[in-house]
Amino acid sequence: MMSDLEKIILSETVIQDRVKELGEQITRDYMGKNPVLIGILKGAMTFMADLIRMIPLKLKFDLIAVSSYGASTRSSGTVRIQKDLDIDIEGCHVIIVEDIIDTGLTLHYIIENLRARHPETLKLCTLLDKPMKRKVPIRPDYNGFEISDDFVVGYGLDYAENYRNLPCIGILKEEIIKDGNS
Ligand code: IMP
Ligand code: MG
Repeated sequence: MMSDLEKIILSETVIQDRVKELGEQITRDYMGKNPVLIGILKGAMTFMADLIRMIPLKLKFDLIAVSSYGASTRSSGTVRIQKDLDIDIEGCHVIIVEDIIDTGLTLHYIIENLRARHPETLKLCTLLDKPMKRKVPIRPDYNGFEISDDFVVGYGLDYAENYRNLPCIGILKEEIIKDGNS
């Protein structure tokens, strides 16, 4: 699996150190509050699992699943909820946790959808930000790393559902990516 990578852009250690810092920052900002973290499946699963263990507050988390790219490396712009929240977030301090923000179309939809449920506050925490291709003006309140426009995999991020279990984040070799196929 590692041999499918052109190069590693973020090592396991670098990711873990940054997740710890984000956890500390959120802990400071939400001191005395009980935040609800909402992870977007499936990509945010790994980040979410590590992040919540770096936040020693009384918190809840929930998961939401929306339609994604499929096997393509381009955003379709179509977003649909496939698995909704179990928790009622009205009046809660909500933090959306996402693996990556690219065009922002997915998060734009989710933010509008969650805002309509009247949380007390709503913030966004992303591990990766690709600001180059943004189509809607969304800026994460917390972000791990700003990266260039390359398609990346690992640490939750997939290509055709593979590579999510890599502990690092890297760029796939060109011959592995055949757009639209797996
Ligand atoms: P957006 O709607 O264009 O912002 O895309 C966000 C979603 O696309 C993320 O939740 C990811 O699942 C996926 N995505 C965007 N860029 C990448 C990438 O480089 N690798 C893997 N998935 C990506
Ligand atoms: Mg995702």
